[in-house]
Amino acid sequence: MNANKKIFPSDFLWGAATSAFQVEGGYKEEGKGENTADTRCAMKKRTQADNSIAADHYHKVSEDVALMKELGLKAYRFSICWSRIYPNGNDEQENEKGVAFYDHLIDELVKAKIVPIVTLLHFDIPTQLLSEYDGFASRRAIDDFDRYARFCFNHYGDRVNYWLTINEQNVMMSIKEMVGETETDPVKLVKRMQQINYHLFMANAKAILSCHELLPNALIGPAVSYPTIYPASCDPKDMFAAKTAQDIMAFSYMNIYVYGEYPAYYTNYLKVQNALPKTLEGDELILKGAKPDYLGLNWYCTNVVKAGKPESEDKESRSMGDLLHVIKNPNLDYTDWGWSYDPIGFRIALRECWDRYHLPMMITENGWSSVDVLENGQVHDQKRIDYLHDHIEQMRHAIDDGVEMIGYNTWSYIDLLSSSDGFNKRYGLVYVDREEFDAKECKRYKKDSFYYYQKVIHANGEKLTFE
Ligand code: BG6
Repeated sequence: MNANKKIFPSDFLWGAATSAFQVEGGYKEEGKGENTADTRCAMKKRTQADNSIAADHYHKVSEDVALMKELGLKAYRFSICWSRIYPNGNDEQENEKGVAFYDHLIDELVKAKIVPIVTLLHFDIPTQLLSEYDGFASRRAIDDFDRYARFCFNHYGDRVNYWLTINEQNVMMSIKEMVGETETDPVKLVKRMQQINYHLFMANAKAILSCHELLPNALIGPAVSYPTIYPASCDPKDMFAAKTAQDIMAFSYMNIYVYGEYPAYYTNYLKVQNALPKTLEGDELILKGAKPDYLGLNWYCTNVVKAGKPESEDKESRSMGDLLHVIKNPNLDYTDWGWSYDPIGFRIALRECWDRYHLPMMITENGWSSVDVLENGQVHDQKRIDYLHDHIEQMRHAIDDGVEMIGYNTWSYIDLLSSSDGFNKRYGLVYVDREEFDAKECKRYKKDSFYYYQKVIHANGEKLTFE
């Protein structure tokens, strides 16, 4: 690549991301209703931090936006908590205080010239909808979600041009508590989860159609989790296992979002499990009519897959039934939680998605987790700096390869509650001084990665190494 070539457009969205339950706290304040994230956090509260305070963003919005401004962020990705707007998910009236909280955040962002990127659903479905009618196992949730989405478009759409429908529907399908599912019989569970999955596809599609109707100039898409999968060897069995895992876990979702139909391999996979969802006449039109304007990708790492069951002495491997298992890649470094460090895999992933869908792409999450240490007000997170450097460099290569990228949001803007692993698994550019079970005052400190990313943004990504 020609080092002097300008790669990033001047309006490239250099951003950082969070989600409501992971950062806000204030989980019972000002009329907020309970949701599935609250329930999941409560289940684990004896062993790790819960979301009652999280990073205390609910009380520190102005301070947090001021730091974003200092960092030079061009965009900030956050999620609206459905049960702050409608505490029961489908109340007649909006909860004014919840609405005002996001008004305040969005106004502060706009004042700071930071583009808001808003996710409508990030792992937090209002619990009341589960008691009332079984949540997304029922079609009623599709319309309730659409009503909530339409409220957001109408109310915030004068200031918000970038929307994301559902965060990581594919991950929600592998953690049943995220959708509030309690079925324990494995056969019934698969069937129910696949019905929920279908209704989420419909909810995504209806929200896209509503956005296009109400905000013709705005852009909307889903945010998909996309860990790239490598085969363990060139043995065709391993190649096929890797392809199948990748298709079932990520590309089937992207295909349904983009083309509005289940790929045949996915339908076959559901038939074998007797888990084909019930559909209604007219659904197809909705699914096919709701084309996303862009693809949001949450990309962290690559995984390696080998066909068949693991050998019993192989302690490092994770089994996924009899068909395949995941093994460690001897060529890569890993976080303490087993997520690999693979920037070249990032370039491969971007090229693959571009070739398949030819839709502009936004990285909605990408980041490195570690147990960071605060010493004399400083945090030396060199590995996170390396991760940012190496992944942005590979994104540049991908753009040079022809991939259309509209933004990059590192995960996360600030330390927050991990979606499954508590508070000490930190991702932020800003350190939050709290411990797992003692939230202290949640004082903010800028990590070394904050200053590094500040320089990258200032250079519009054309320079990645600094004195
Ligand atoms: C994505 C989620 O799965 O990955 C985030 O959208 C999450 O909510 C992030 O925090 C990292 O995962 P974890 O489990 O380390 O928090």
